[in-house]
Amino acid sequence: MERWPAESIWEQVAPLLPGFTVEVLPEIDSSNTELLRRARAGRTEPTLLVAERQTAGRGRLGRPWQSTVSDSLTFSLGLPYAPRDWSGLSLAVGLSLADSLHPDIGLKWPNDLWWQDRKLGGILIEAATAGGQSQVVIGIGINIRPRAAEGLSTPPAALSELWPEACAAAALLRLSAPLVRTLLDFERCGFAPLRARFEARDVLRGRTVQTSEGLQGQALGLSDSGALRLLTSAGEHAIHSSELSVRPLNRQHGDPA
Ligand code: BTN
Repeated sequence: MERWPAESIWEQVAPLLPGFTVEVLPEIDSSNTELLRRARAGRTEPTLLVAERQTAGRGRLGRPWQSTVSDSLTFSLGLPYAPRDWSGLSLAVGLSLADSLHPDIGLKWPNDLWWQDRKLGGILIEAATAGGQSQVVIGIGINIRPRAAEGLSTPPAALSELWPEACAAAALLRLSAPLVRTLLDFERCGFAPLRARFEARDVLRGRTVQTSEGLQGQALGLSDSGALRLLTSAGEHAIHSSELSVRPLNRQHGDPA
């Protein structure tokens, strides 16, 4: 069983987020669902909730999120949150995670951590309103050790491929305080100041991509608000909606076949 560094995380984060707590649950349907339930019941204190096992983990676009106990890190962070502009929040979160975990982690617009053209982790951001105050729940799932493809066309990547001693507890300790700092900065300044750093890790840039709505074009990078800029045969499009998925059509030089 994992030994979670709850106290160390609390010591780093509590000065930034008054009232912050860390909680580890051996099993829950979904850490995001649980924090949304709490928010709707008026329990809005900043909470980092680690789920050792999720029985109904959720991904984006209504997909299930599968993870194996101790081979994955699954947690959610809920807090009262009122940025001027929410656009680009998932990009800011992804950037913070990548910066904390490894210089070679790539970012795939809008919500994925990538390594060698395979998904390493995902982010599910949801919001609730409680007593007139907005609450954000940021759910993060990261594959720590390799697992079977389970119906996926490509087996997922794992953090241990980049960081051989990686374990869920060590990863959580590395990323928690920087993530909170990123959220606080984003609340004041939005995505624009992070754009260049995101683009340095952008795995789609320069590649031909297709959206789930059938739009095809060359990824040119991002706008200041975090929209994906796509050069199509009809000109440049800015894709704002995170309600669609994007996949590259060509493999990068040096990628595994
Ligand atoms: C995605 O890539 O589709 C997003 C995956 C998000 C998964 C995490 S695991 C912790 C939190 N609880 C959930 O039910 N989902 C998120």
